[in-house]
Amino acid sequence: MSKRKIRIGFIGTGGIALSAHVPGWQSLKDVEIVAVADVRETAAQGFVAATGGRVQVFKDYREMLELDLDAVDICTPNKIHTPAVLASLKAGKHVLCEKPLATTTKDIRKMGELADKLGLTLMSCQHMRWRPQSLALRDWIHNGGLGEVYHARVRAMRRAKLPPRPGFIYEELSGGGPCMDIGVHALDSTMWMMDFPKPVRVSGTTKVNFAKGRKIPGQWGEWDRKGFNVEDFAAAFVHFENDATLMLETAWLGHQEEDEDMSFQLFGQRGGVKWPSAEFASVQGRTFTQGTLKNPDMLAAPHTEAIRAFHQCFTRKKPSLVPWTETIQVIAILEAVYASQKKGREITLK
Ligand SMILES: NC(=O)c1ccc[n+]([C@@H]2O[C@H](COP(=O)([O-])OP(=O)(O)OC[C@H]3O[C@@H](n4cnc5c(N)ncnc54)[C@H](O)[C@@H]3O)[C@@H](O)[C@H]2O)c1
Repeated sequence: MSKRKIRIGFIGTGGIALSAHVPGWQSLKDVEIVAVADVRETAAQGFVAATGGRVQVFKDYREMLELDLDAVDICTPNKIHTPAVLASLKAGKHVLCEKPLATTTKDIRKMGELADKLGLTLMSCQHMRWRPQSLALRDWIHNGGLGEVYHARVRAMRRAKLPPRPGFIYEELSGGGPCMDIGVHALDSTMWMMDFPKPVRVSGTTKVNFAKGRKIPGQWGEWDRKGFNVEDFAAAFVHFENDATLMLETAWLGHQEEDEDMSFQLFGQRGGVKWPSAEFASVQGRTFTQGTLKNPDMLAAPHTEAIRAFHQCFTRKKPSLVPWTETIQVIAILEAVYASQKKGREITLK
């Protein structure tokens, strides 16, 4: 008798589900995608046509969760993550969820504590941790290349790449603009390298510079400029409990030479390093040393690696490789950026 395959259900079958998650799951031989739920029938049908196989389609994910599934992969707009994660956990499924896991620390704590109580794996798909440069840097840092980090510069800056879909530009669906879309990636990667020091004070600003006007066209198509109600730019300065500091800049639209600058730079007591270029610099015996770290070869795309990692965690009962206790520190900073803008002052975190 053949062994039963691991059964996966999707909630949300749009862009990232089809382009990045499906190839990840399809790379695993012991897995089958058996069901999908999407409020847009056309999206679900397109998903089924593209993936082949026998997939049950639901409009309401709560009905899908009644099926015998091992894990659920959530790829809905950000604000749907929390209700979908909570319902999936309550139905006894392990959960992989796109970033940001949630847009508030309160929601992350609620989901994290429930997953822990039920003994289920909850992992946010921070796939940038699985980029070859990230893995090389993390190894180098753990081997002492940097020493204690005292400052980080983080950039998630785009020139004309504003995602025009509703799930990104309306606050009620996205919970925020570039902070929640790309800032969360760069910040998670940076803080992972720093071993997640606790943020204690945040001063931030958010602005709508160009998204409501017509000065900058979008490379990904036009959007509802009138209804747009999130930031298109944000900047922040963060103090951590260990006295380290971090500067964050993030934007969808901006006057800059590069199409996209998704990068960070770490300054440590022994050396400094940049990501993703993996260039490092240090002083040894009062002599300046610099070079580029060799990146390991990747077997697959970062999203696929993240999905494989999640699969290993829940099948082998290992702890989540993106624990909610780390994600909550990233969201605490972004939440404080919005609060700082609203209150016009620095925010102290508990
Ligand atoms: N990691 C990355 O690089 C990356 C890239 C893009 C998007 N994302 C994240 O992935 C998520 C989805 O983004 P996308 O680009 O695929 O968006 P999308 O708009 O293409 O797809 C979202 C899908 O969710 C569906 N949906 C909305 N409400 C739903 C509900 N209540 N139940 C079921 N389905 C529902 C929509 O109909 C749509 O098909 C977002 O959280 C986003 O931040 C991550």
